[in-house]
Amino acid sequence: MIKNAGTEEAIKRWDSFADTYSKNHTEQGDLHKEVFLNPALFSLMESVKNKKVLDAGCGEGYLSRILSRSGAAVTAVDYSPRMIEIAKERTSKDLIIDYKQGNCEELNILEDKSFDLIVSNMVIQDLANYEKAFSEMYRLLVDGGCFIFSILHPCFVTPECGWEKTESGEKLHWNVDKYFYEGAYEQCLGKKEKMFFFHRTLTSYINTLIKTGFVLESIVEPKPSTEMLKKYPSFEEDFRCADFIVFKVKK
Ligand SMILES: C[S@@+](CC[C@H](N)C(=O)[O-])C[C@H]1O[C@@H](n2cnc3c(N)ncnc32)[C@H](O)[C@@H]1O
Repeated sequence: MIKNAGTEEAIKRWDSFADTYSKNHTEQGDLHKEVFLNPALFSLMESVKNKKVLDAGCGEGYLSRILSRSGAAVTAVDYSPRMIEIAKERTSKDLIIDYKQGNCEELNILEDKSFDLIVSNMVIQDLANYEKAFSEMYRLLVDGGCFIFSILHPCFVTPECGWEKTESGEKLHWNVDKYFYEGAYEQCLGKKEKMFFFHRTLTSYINTLIKTGFVLESIVEPKPSTEMLKKYPSFEEDFRCADFIVFKVKK
C-alpha cells in the first residue's frame, strides 16, 4: 500500500506532531486512555512498587508519571526528541524518571535483563519492525518479567475500515477490509497530520510473540466500564466492536 515507509519516516512525523498530540493529554492521558487503556493496563499489572519498569515509547510521559507515583523506578524511552522534551517538562522534580531518546527496535543503550516489567502503550503499531522490538523487550526483561502492551485491535482497525452510515448519519455497522494486508498505511490523527501505522494480522502478532520466546499470560479487549459510560455516554458504541487489544506476555 505504501512502499519505503519505515520507522525513520514514522518518527519524523511523530516528532512534528508531538506538541499537538500532547495538548489533549492530561495526567490520565487522552480520553481513550482514560476510558479503555489505563483500566486494561492496570488490571494486568501487579504492584509496581520498587519494580524496575520500562515505558517503551513513552510519548509525553503520562504513564511513566503514574508508574513513578506508584513507586516504580521508571526508565522511559521514546524515539521522538520533542516527545522526550515535553515529557521532561511535564515531570515534577519529586518524580525521578530516567527519560532517554531511543528506538524500541534497537535499545542497546539499555542492558540485558534490566527490567521487571515493560509497558508499551499504543506504540507497536507505529513501528516498522515489530519482530525486532519484541526481541529487544525480551532481552531487556529479567527471567519471569512481563511485557504488557496495547495496540489498535488488528481485526477491526485495518487499513480500510469505518462505519457504514445511513444518509442521515445513523451508524449501521463497522466495515473492515484489507485485513490480510501487512505493512504501512497512513491515517489522519490531527486535523491534517498523517501518521504511519503498520498493520499485521492477529496471527502474526501472536506467532511472533511465541517465536520470540514469550508465554502468553492474558489478553484484554477493553470495553468502557459503567462508571466511564456515565461520564462519557457516547462510548456506548464501543460495545459493538473493539478498538484496542492489550497483551500480557511473560519471559
Ligand atoms: C501513540 S503515541 C503513544 C505514547 C505513549 N505511550 C502514550 O500512551 O501516551 C506513540 C509514541 O511512540 C513513539 N514511537 C513510535 N515508534 C517508536 C520507536 N520505534 N521507538 C521509540 N518510540 C517510538 C512515538 O514517538 C510516540 O511518542
